[in-house]
Amino acid sequence: MTEIENRLPADHFDRALAADVRAGLSARPKTLPPKWFYDAEGSRLFERITELAEYYPTRAEAEILRTRAAELAGLTGARTLVELGSGSSEKTRLLLDALGEHGSLREFVPLDVSESALREAAEKIAIDYPGLGVHGVVGDFATDLGGLPGAAPRMLVFLGGTIGNLEPPARAEFLAGLRSVLEPGEWLLLGTDLVKDPAVLVPAYADAAGVTAEFNRNVLRVVNRELGADFEPESFEHHAVWDPDREWIEMRLRARRPMRVRIAGLGLDVEFAEGEELRTEVSAKFRRAGIEAELGAAGFTPVRYWTDREQRFAVTLARRA
Ligand code: SAH
Ligand code: TRP
Repeated sequence: MTEIENRLPADHFDRALAADVRAGLSARPKTLPPKWFYDAEGSRLFERITELAEYYPTRAEAEILRTRAAELAGLTGARTLVELGSGSSEKTRLLLDALGEHGSLREFVPLDVSESALREAAEKIAIDYPGLGVHGVVGDFATDLGGLPGAAPRMLVFLGGTIGNLEPPARAEFLAGLRSVLEPGEWLLLGTDLVKDPAVLVPAYADAAGVTAEFNRNVLRVVNRELGADFEPESFEHHAVWDPDREWIEMRLRARRPMRVRIAGLGLDVEFAEGEELRTEVSAKFRRAGIEAELGAAGFTPVRYWTDREQRFAVTLARRA
């Protein structure tokens, strides 16, 4: 049984995108928020990223989930699994399997801003897990978490290190919001990429085959299509830069030459100097103490902290206090 609920406003792709593009391209340095990467093509490109040799987070996180799923099922006895930024939900199957075997799981609630990715994942999972209720939500995890379906105890899972795509103030607000939608004793499972040698980190965001570069440029294609802009994506070079002070990777698009871009839908012209950079995303990397402090500040009690054998990635189980 699959049901898909759309919580995005009908004008999501014009009004909200328009506001973000107008604000971001008028700022210095210029920025664009990452949720606009993920149209159907962006979601496909992200799935290709997860298969790249350089992109270790997906494999490291899957290793943790595979090793710990049974323990996790026993600890939580979750009846509802809510997944934020669910994408293809491939790794999540490890949790569905373990919770199914444990016997507690009734409902799976994937939530993603990418309708195409969500529909495809929800339909496949409904076929592969007969008897599981699948209630997909097309929505923004920053704003659309009120009244989530499903019986208690629920476990919210947020994988892929996507929490690192929020900057610290937004992260604190987001975690506090998660706490407020949960009842005391319910669960949060959080995947975070860990601080490590930049020689490993940077190639994960700048692969040799250029898939990440195409993914990064995809945001320009989305703006072209939705707002009638005339960005030439190939005239922007992809860069991934490690910031050792803030301990995050910054994704940038650097203008190869001076350009004037017309954004017809906004009646806006934007100038780029040669070499000027547009910042499209940060991906923060974490340390155990920081993760536990941020969870604690938001009203969660860390219960387990697991890493893969090479300590590249962490999954933390926390309980709403
Ligand atoms: N959880 C998957 C996908 C991670 S990529 C994994 O671990 O592999 C990030 C996912 O979050 C994408 O599917 C993207 O569409 C989604 N996403 C990004 N910003 C979002 C937002 N503001 N609200 C909801 N989903 C978002
Ligand atoms: N959540 C993913 C991460 O931070 C998203 C991501 C992977 C990404 N590669 C990217 C975002 C490249 C922008 C560009 O690892």
